[in-house]
Amino acid sequence: GIKIATIGGGSSYTPELVEGFIKRYAELPVRELWLVDIEEGKEKLEIVGAMAKRMVKAAGVDCTVHLTLDRREALKDADFVTTQFRVGLLAAREKDERIPLSHGMMGQETNGAGGMFKAFRTIPVILDIVKDMKELCPNAWLIDFTNPAGMVTEAVLRYGNWDKVVGLCNIPVGATKQAAEKSGEAEEDLFFKFAGINHFHWHRVWSKSGKEITNDLIDKYFAPDAEKEALVANIQDAEFIYEQVKHLGMLPCPYHHYYYITKEMLEHQIEDFNQNGTRAEVVKRLEDSLFELYKDPNLDYKPEELSKRGGAHYSDAACEIINSIYNDKRSIMVVSTRNNGTIDDLPYDCAVEVSSIITSHGPEPLNWGKFPPAQRGYLQMMKSMEELTIEAAVTGDYATALQAFTQNPLVNAGREAQQILDEMLVAHEAHLPQF
Ligand code: NAD
Ligand code: G6P
Ligand code: MN
Ligand code: MN
Repeated sequence: GIKIATIGGGSSYTPELVEGFIKRYAELPVRELWLVDIEEGKEKLEIVGAMAKRMVKAAGVDCTVHLTLDRREALKDADFVTTQFRVGLLAAREKDERIPLSHGMMGQETNGAGGMFKAFRTIPVILDIVKDMKELCPNAWLIDFTNPAGMVTEAVLRYGNWDKVVGLCNIPVGATKQAAEKSGEAEEDLFFKFAGINHFHWHRVWSKSGKEITNDLIDKYFAPDAEKEALVANIQDAEFIYEQVKHLGMLPCPYHHYYYITKEMLEHQIEDFNQNGTRAEVVKRLEDSLFELYKDPNLDYKPEELSKRGGAHYSDAACEIINSIYNDKRSIMVVSTRNNGTIDDLPYDCAVEVSSIITSHGPEPLNWGKFPPAQRGYLQMMKSMEELTIEAAVTGDYATALQAFTQNPLVNAGREAQQILDEMLVAHEAHLPQF
């Protein structure tokens, strides 16, 4: 049987994961699921853990759910380690969103100043986890859902010297489902090629007959008369400029809104903030009502309410990757993995988010080649910003952090960048031992 250790087990997403394992039990016999959390998350862990136990029992599968605050006990001889932790909890996310906004900049969980600070807090912890894995489960795969998933994956590869890591995002899963719906073709009949980096990738789509339908989909999604439909719950609805996305010749990801129509998105965010507070506060309320549901001793399935979170399809992504590695299924999935020349415009050693064949030895990315100038320059800048952010997270070097801030397109460069960096370093001090 398989042993899974899930770090950040008190997450409200845990029922997604459990549902995914239950669904695949015949192929993927998970016998032990260890949910790990920390003291601050103990109460959540107990509530969602009890719910996980009920789900497993109701499904009648032979799997034991363990709850622990002892990470080492959970990692011992694990086959797969999945991560879904949030360093500093939602209180830290709130600062990531609120402080930039108070300076007239985008405040977002994985983008701009907030995203860089989430990396600063998270990367030391993931490197610590890797250190434990080397000792306690040296053959395990690390499946990282913790954001910023692309930078976390790159940190593990470059600074953790750990190759068996896959970074995960639910966006591509949603995008493939949406394409199937909009094209009227079955998902398995379509062929997708995604390339770029986490939350900054583009994709192309082909139908079974061999015809590329990318441009048709651009029209269906973004033409002035198209019926607009948000792909994820956490990103404000705003319209791309049709001529500009059409010129890309590829489908952008929802996070491109922040870069392609920055001012509109900022205005949206301010409006949203004035009405509902930060996304962290909205999520906190959602989470509270989810945990109220999870407390119900009769609830033994994933409630519909969870779909109001941005991470829908998490289980499709995480469980299917594990399944494909375990059974050498060679499914094509979109993951963050080492570039190795897949995207010619980016360094060999960096993490990229690309369509890959998931084998028993890990992801084999499908070659992409070069991007046209519209994508290339922006992508290269975003990647070097990520490299600087990761380096600053590891070393705690102030000038490197400032350089990352200077380069991030969602941060106003110059003294404004320095001011917001300084303010956030103080605000997050408790979770930044390296600085
Ligand atoms: P959450 O706030 O519920 O945190 C999950 C748990 O992590 C909490 O119970 C917390 O106590 C625990 N935790 C914090 N620090 C820890 C540590 N050092 N060790 C172990 N546990 C720790 O978070 P959430 O909203 O469920 O999101 C979890 C993570 O998943 C976040 O990093 C979020 O950004 C990420 N996420 C990623 C995607 C994606 O596409 N990759 C989608 C949604 C969420
Ligand atoms: C999805 C993304 C995640 C993101 C999350 C936020 O868009 O793929 O990486 O951080 O949702 O969801 P939330 O409900 O926490 O705002
Ligand atoms: Mn994501
Ligand atoms: Mn800038």
